[in-house]
Amino acid sequence: MKINGQTFIVSGGASGLGKACVEEICKAGGKVAIFDMNEESGQEIVKGLSSSAKFFVCDVLSTESIASAIRGAVDWSRETGSPLRGVISAAGVATPATMLDRHGKALSLDDFDFVVNVNLRGTIDLVRQSLEHLAQVEPIGPDSERGVIIMVASSAAFDGQKGQVSYSASKGAVTAMTLPMARDLARYGIRVVTVAPSLFDSRMTSVMSDKVRKSLEDAMEFPKRAGQPAEFAQLVRQGIENIMLNGVTIRLDGAMRMPSKM
Ligand SMILES: NC(=O)c1ccc[n+]([C@@H]2O[C@H](COP(=O)([O-])OP(=O)(O)OC[C@H]3O[C@@H](n4cnc5c(N)ncnc54)[C@H](O)[C@@H]3O)[C@@H](O)[C@H]2O)c1
Repeated sequence: MKINGQTFIVSGGASGLGKACVEEICKAGGKVAIFDMNEESGQEIVKGLSSSAKFFVCDVLSTESIASAIRGAVDWSRETGSPLRGVISAAGVATPATMLDRHGKALSLDDFDFVVNVNLRGTIDLVRQSLEHLAQVEPIGPDSERGVIIMVASSAAFDGQKGQVSYSASKGAVTAMTLPMARDLARYGIRVVTVAPSLFDSRMTSVMSDKVRKSLEDAMEFPKRAGQPAEFAQLVRQGIENIMLNGVTIRLDGAMRMPSKM
């Protein structure tokens, strides 16, 4: 899928990995509808990208909020003549909690639901509502491609650490959805690619203590450092542009396998 002249939705685009995707897509001549709860950061990013990006306030926990943001993005894509061609679903939260806390109290279902609802339900809700529009656009290129869905998992989908049961459940499910979703959408010329990053610099990981960060960096094979958001966005760009990538989860992790404990 060529990026130039097409519109993409990026959820979580107001920070970290999503923000880097916004910048990469704009650099390639695409337009981006940023969907995020953080209006202040979102509007700030848009200012720097002039007419290539537009911010839409969106809480992926709310079906109506997603619907309203998608309506806005579709209207904007019609105004600019740049059809909606894809979704990068990067909104996410990582709230750690162990199965039993130090007082013997079981994992709270509210905490579990929150993480799963943002990372998994929020992803599927955004994707499913966007698809009704993606399936309507004119196919392009020799393979009649209509669009691409890029979802964001994590190393925790495969080797979740202590305290990551909820997060691993949500990211493992995103990984598991990738192939059946690609199979469902093949007839429409829509691909599905999931990226599973390990430790990347972002607001989410900036709250880590130096000790935790060091233990994760020590687990990296090569390079022995946190990934940069631009390196994540580089793979997302390839996911959009390379038509042979489909139905797959790609680990982006410097050969890191996460240790049991931070
Ligand atoms: N940074 C890492 O090391 C790392 C590793 C593995 C996976 N990930 C995943 O990458 C994605 C991006 O994370 P990041 O590191 O850039 O974090 P981040 O905190 O910098 O950005 C996440 C963005 O998602 C938005 N968001 C959160 N809840 C939302 C909601 N309900 N509705 C709409 N927007 C919401 C936030 O406002 C924020 O702008 C997440 O899915 C995360 O789980 C990150």
